[in-house]
Amino acid sequence: MDVRPFWLAGRPATGDGELTVTNPVDDRVVGRASVPTAEQVEQAVAAADAVQKEAAALPVHVRAEALAHVSRRLAERADEIARLISAENGKPIFWARAEVARAVATFRFAAEETRRSGAEVQRLDTEPAAAGRIAYVTRVPHGPVLAITPFNFPLNLVAHKVAPAIAVGAPVIVKPAPATPLSALLLGEILAETGLPEGMFSVLPVPNDRAAALVEDPRLPVVSFTGSAPVGYAIGDRVPRKHVTLELGGNAAAIVLADADLDFAAARIALFSNYQAGQSCIAVQRVIVEDAVYDAFVERLIPAVNALVVGDPADEKTQVGPLVSTAAAERVEQWVAEAVEGGAKVLTGGTRDGATYAPTVLADAPADAKVCREEVFGPVMVLQRVAGVDEAFAAANDSAYGLQAGVFTRSLDIAFRANRELQVGGVIIGDVPSYRADQMPYGGIKDSGVGREGLRSAMADYTYDKVMVLTGLTL
Ligand code: SIN
Repeated sequence: MDVRPFWLAGRPATGDGELTVTNPVDDRVVGRASVPTAEQVEQAVAAADAVQKEAAALPVHVRAEALAHVSRRLAERADEIARLISAENGKPIFWARAEVARAVATFRFAAEETRRSGAEVQRLDTEPAAAGRIAYVTRVPHGPVLAITPFNFPLNLVAHKVAPAIAVGAPVIVKPAPATPLSALLLGEILAETGLPEGMFSVLPVPNDRAAALVEDPRLPVVSFTGSAPVGYAIGDRVPRKHVTLELGGNAAAIVLADADLDFAAARIALFSNYQAGQSCIAVQRVIVEDAVYDAFVERLIPAVNALVVGDPADEKTQVGPLVSTAAAERVEQWVAEAVEGGAKVLTGGTRDGATYAPTVLADAPADAKVCREEVFGPVMVLQRVAGVDEAFAAANDSAYGLQAGVFTRSLDIAFRANRELQVGGVIIGDVPSYRADQMPYGGIKDSGVGREGLRSAMADYTYDKVMVLTGLTL
C-alpha cells in the first residue's frame, strides 16, 4: 500500500516516518501517511510566515474562486471521499456521505462569504473636532492559523478551519487527528489544484506529542483547536497571548416538554444520540422529560432505539457503526458499568462487541455518574424525569458544558424563554441539540470552549478591525 505524502507549503512531500491508519471494525490497514521531520515542519511554518502578506492581499475573486473550486471538486469526488472517511473513522457510509455534502457546502459558504466581506466607512464628523474626517475600517487577518482537528469529522471539521482561513487571506497549517489523517490529506490534494500561493496551506500529520512545538511557535498567532476540554484548555494555558479558539466537548441535553410531538421527539433523539456512535460534541446525551409525558415518551423511545440498524459501516443501511477504536468502546462500557453500580437501569443496550457499543438508554443514573456529568462520546443516553419547565431548564444547565441544547415544544413563549435561560451557545427548538447548519455560528460557553465557528463567525475570529482615518475631507 502506497504511503500518502503530506502537504508542505502546497506541495506533496514525504518525511522519515509513517503513520498507519486502521479501520476500527476489523483493524485492517486502510492507509499509511508519511510523517514530516522536524525540519519539514519548520519549512511549512516558515513558508506560512513568509506568504502572509501576499495572502492577505489576495484579491477577493482569487480567494472565492479557490474556495468554489474546492467545493466543486469535493462534490465530484464525493463517493471516493465518503468511502475514505468511512474506512478511516468507522463512520457508516450514510453519515460519511452526509459529511462530504456538508464540506461541499462549507467551502461554498466560504466562497460566498468572502465575496460579501468588505470595508466599512464611518463618518467621524459627528463631533466638531472631527470635521472632515472619516474612518475606513477593514478586517485584517491576525496571521497564519494553526488548525488542530479531531477524528470525529475528519473532513468537515478540517473544512471549518481551512475554508475561513482562505476566505480571509490567512495561511493555514492543519494538524489532523492521528487516527484519521487521510481525509485531510485528500483535501490537501484538492487545495493543491487551486493555484493558491505557495505556503498558503500545509497538512502535517504529526503525532500529538509534536503538536506543542507548533502551538508555541510565535509565527502561528492563531490556534484553532477542536477536541477535548482538558487538551483544549491546556493549549490555551500554554499560549495565553495567542488568539486561541476552542471547540470543546459537551453533554448535550434534549428537553421533551408535555406539548411535544412525542413520536417525532423519540425518533430524532434515538437517531441523534447514536449517530456517529455518539461521537459528536452535540450528540444527545441527557434526555430531560416532563413527568406528564415521561412514560409515553419512553414507550416510543425504546422501540425507536432498537430499530436502529447497527452494523457494518460499509453497508448503506447501517445507521450505527463502531466507535473509533476498541479502547474507546471499552471506556464507554466502563462508564455504563459505573452508572449501573450506582443504581442506573439499562432500558436497552449496554453490550459491546469489539469497537461497537450497542445503542444504550439508561434511567435512574446517579447524578454524579460520569455518564451524566462528563462527555460520553459514545452511543449512550441518560433519561431524567422532571416536574416541569423550571426543573427541565435547571437540569439542562446543571452541567460543566454549554454547547447546544434541544427543546421539543410547540410554544413560542417557551422557545424564547429557553433562548434566554439555557446556558449554551445554541438552542434548537423543535429538534435535537445535534442540529448544525454549517453557515450558522457554532460554539460553546462554560467548558465547551471559546470562540465561534460557522463561516462568517470564523472569518471574524481570524481577523481584527483595522481603522484608517482620512483627514481634511470635504464631506
Ligand atoms: C462537533 O462534534 O463539534 C461537530 C458537530 C457537527 O459539526 O455536526
